[in-house]
Amino acid sequence: MNTLWLYTTIILTTFSLKAHSNPTCNPNDSMTLKHFMNGMESPIPGWTSNSSNCCNWDGVTCDLSGNVIKLELSKKKLVGTLVNSFTNLTNLRTLNLSRNLLKGTPPVSLFHLQCLQVLDLSANEFSGSLPDSVNLPMIQLLDISDNNFEGPIAVGFCINSTGIKVLRLGVNYFDGEVPLEFENCSVLEELSLDGNFVSGMLPEYLFRLPRLLRLTVQDNAISGQLRNSEVSSLVYLDVSLNYISGRLPDFFHLFPNLSYFAAHSNNLDGRMPFSLVNSRSISSVVLRNNSFSGLIDLNCSAMLNLKLLDLVDNKFTGSIPNNLPACPLLKTIDLGGNNLTGQIPETFKSFNSLCYLSLSMCNLNNLSGSLQILHTCPNLTTLVLSRSFDNEEMPSDANLQFKKLKTLVIPSCKLTGRIPVWLNGLTKLRILDLSWNELTGSIPPFLGSLQSLVYLDLSNNYLSGEIPKSLTGLPDLQFHDNSLELSVEFPISMRRGTNGKAFKYSYGIRFPPTLDLSNNFLTGPVWPEFGNLINLHCLNLRYNELSGNIPSSLGNLTSIETLDLSHNDLTGEIPLSLVSLGMLRKFSIAYNNLTGIIPSGGQFSTFSVSSFEGNPGLCGEFVLSCVKKQKSFQIREYEVIEESLISLPVWTGFGTGFLFAVILLLVLPRIRDKQDTDKFE
Ligand SMILES: *[C@@H]1O[C@H](CO)[C@@H](O)[C@H](O)[C@H]1NC(C)=O
Ligand SMILES: *[C@@H]1O[C@H](CO)[C@@H](O)[C@H](O)[C@H]1NC(C)=O
Ligand SMILES: *[C@@H]1O[C@H](CO)[C@@H](O)[C@H](O)[C@H]1NC(C)=O
Ligand SMILES: *[C@@H]1O[C@H](CO)[C@@H](O)[C@H](O)[C@H]1NC(C)=O
Ligand SMILES: *[C@@H]1O[C@H](CO)[C@@H](O)[C@H](O)[C@H]1NC(C)=O
Ligand SMILES: *[C@@H]1O[C@H](CO)[C@@H](O)[C@H](O)[C@H]1NC(C)=O
Ligand SMILES: *[C@@H]1O[C@H](CO)[C@@H](O)[C@H](O)[C@H]1NC(C)=O
Ligand SMILES: *[C@@H]1O[C@H](CO)[C@@H](O)[C@H](O)[C@H]1NC(C)=O
Ligand SMILES: *[C@@H]1O[C@H](CO)[C@@H](O)[C@H](O)[C@H]1NC(C)=O
Ligand SMILES: *[C@@H]1O[C@H](CO)[C@@H](O)[C@H](O)[C@H]1NC(C)=O
Ligand SMILES: *[C@@H]1O[C@H](CO)[C@@H](O)[C@H](O)[C@H]1NC(C)=O
Ligand SMILES: *[C@@H]1O[C@H](CO)[C@@H](O)[C@H](O)[C@H]1NC(C)=O
Repeated sequence: MNTLWLYTTIILTTFSLKAHSNPTCNPNDSMTLKHFMNGMESPIPGWTSNSSNCCNWDGVTCDLSGNVIKLELSKKKLVGTLVNSFTNLTNLRTLNLSRNLLKGTPPVSLFHLQCLQVLDLSANEFSGSLPDSVNLPMIQLLDISDNNFEGPIAVGFCINSTGIKVLRLGVNYFDGEVPLEFENCSVLEELSLDGNFVSGMLPEYLFRLPRLLRLTVQDNAISGQLRNSEVSSLVYLDVSLNYISGRLPDFFHLFPNLSYFAAHSNNLDGRMPFSLVNSRSISSVVLRNNSFSGLIDLNCSAMLNLKLLDLVDNKFTGSIPNNLPACPLLKTIDLGGNNLTGQIPETFKSFNSLCYLSLSMCNLNNLSGSLQILHTCPNLTTLVLSRSFDNEEMPSDANLQFKKLKTLVIPSCKLTGRIPVWLNGLTKLRILDLSWNELTGSIPPFLGSLQSLVYLDLSNNYLSGEIPKSLTGLPDLQFHDNSLELSVEFPISMRRGTNGKAFKYSYGIRFPPTLDLSNNFLTGPVWPEFGNLINLHCLNLRYNELSGNIPSSLGNLTSIETLDLSHNDLTGEIPLSLVSLGMLRKFSIAYNNLTGIIPSGGQFSTFSVSSFEGNPGLCGEFVLSCVKKQKSFQIREYEVIEESLISLPVWTGFGTGFLFAVILLLVLPRIRDKQDTDKFE
């Protein structure tokens, strides 16, 4: 709130200033910015060294006297160091420009701009350590997150800059312990150290900072126990992905305003403390991937604000708590990966607030009864029950209705029976995963009339018959549509890239548009109309008994990244049109009865022999002579195509934005049969 207020004030100030003609830049500030600019390895967009009025430069805001009060250079691809390029006086004197413009005034570092209120250098490539001294007396917001800064954090931020409200140092390479540094930050409202290598214990004084509302230290190397003995003003606390151990202290009564508490992926154990399960303020509890045990015993008559409960992968026992519907706002429940038993409680009937329920890898029984209960929840949009049931029959009651359901995931339950008719009524369904069951019969044509379906996984069943042609008419696979909005807000988590740098992603549901019918007994042709599904990213039909030619229209699948037709009875030649599929990264037509010449060029130059082997009539780069027949190529059956969803950067937006969404990664079975392990990992 206060940050918003701060921004609003600044924006309003800015507008009122822009109404006047721009003032002339204070020469001291001008010089600082020119030094800064010249220290960069590449030009700063919108800055010109020939216009002496730096108030006109992009991202620079001045007050009426020409003092620079705001510098916003987020995401400009800036490369350079702060310390050496503009606090090192030796360096500065060697700059050509400085000599022209200095006029004898000593240079002032960017961290000594006397009127600066906002300094935003986030999402650039700055490196080096922090400057030795900071004197920004007017600063309110300082954001240097998502750069390559390193070294310890100690600078004394709040000694000279006593008015600092927002300090974002996340996603850099800072190390050392959390220093005493912030003790004097008496008006600090937000402190973020996410995604660094900070170690040691989390100092207790941070909880006592009188104005602090938001503290995030996710994904560091913080160890020891959490401690606090005084009332804290915190509203948002995230200590996830550290090495915090032992019991979670019974201290939540000291956080009267705490709304979001995340401590996932630490080494916490014991029961959830009394003050937590009785908290009136908390709306999100994220404790996944720890060793909490005991019963899940929330006091819903106290937890009036609870919206999200994520207790995945702990050691909780007992049955699914039947009092959860008494938490009036509870929307998102994920209890997967605990040793829970029994059934979905009767009390879940008409659980009005429930949107998202995931109970993967819990030892539940009675799927039929569970669905009878859950289909009365009016707002349920996501239901994930991977590996929760064992050897039951797929419920076939035609009365089951899930009017708002968008995601239905029930794989690896050894379900028998057929693909049920009641799916026909799930008109909002976008994601359907019934893979790794023992379903028989044919694929019902009505699946093709589910208007919103973009992800269909029926692989690894005993389905037979032809692929219904209707699947080639799924509207959302025919048009590009990346607006798969998340129905529920999920916690943001961190993940390290190969360079050791953290990036953010959300657990929310986003799946690449997929048709996976592999490992069944499907017969008949690969319909030429599959070529209409231009939004499809993955088409997997391997290990079936499909016959006929590979339609050349598949060359129209401009979004396709994975195309696997291997282990079928396909004949004819490989259509030349496939060479034009520029996004194709995984391709196999191995073990069919194809003939002719393997086309070359395009993505085909990146595929190895394993994509083509097992087709005695095929000649090409790898198979020099058709006469030689099947050379003794190594058969690596499951290696060809499968790759994790993570590796589909185009679709997930990994390359462009940091919000990278994976979900069933966390809720789908991780202990699937060997053959499947490569699928969602
Ligand atoms: C520039 O800095 C010098 C030294 O700090 C100071 O004396 C002078 O008043 C400053 N000039 C302006 C225009 O602020
Ligand atoms: C500044 O330099 C650019 C080229 O770098 C030039 O196009 C422009 O006219 C110059 N402006 C002034 C005011 O000299
Ligand atoms: C300043 O730069 C010079 C030359 O690059 C270097 O030798 C010196 O160590 C630097 N001083 C500081 C304090 O960084
Ligand atoms: C300073 O820069 C100008 C233009 O960039 C160049 O013409 C001049 O030779 C430079 N002077 C020195 C001493 O490097
Ligand atoms: C505070 O500002 C003064 C004057 O610029 C500077 O010498 C000192 O190093 C600064 N202190 C800190 C802790 O940065
Ligand atoms: C906080 O400020 C007080 C008074 O200015 C000072 O004595 C103390 O050293 C400061 N604490 C830190 C950690 O810098
Ligand atoms: C909690 O929030 C209320 C209302 O915003 C505020 O008055 C109160 O001071 C806060 N409590 C703490 C301990 O900060
Ligand atoms: C679970 O937590 C451990 C550390 O306790 C971490 O190494 C691991 O990556 C976490 N797993 C997930 C899926 O986040
Ligand atoms: C799960 O809990 C049951 C008792 O409820 C216990 O017998 C069983 O050993 C537990 N399983 C695991 C893997 O902890
Ligand atoms: C859920 O559904 C009910 C009945 O359809 C509706 O009144 C309510 O507003 C919905 N939303 C929530 C969050 O309960
Ligand atoms: C799809 O492919 C076929 C055969 O390659 C071609 O004739 C047709 O024009 C393509 N359709 C579209 C919409 O590109
Ligand atoms: C492959 O096709 C040829 C004719 O096109 C046929 O004679 C042969 O039996 C087929 N091989 C297999 C293994 O199906």
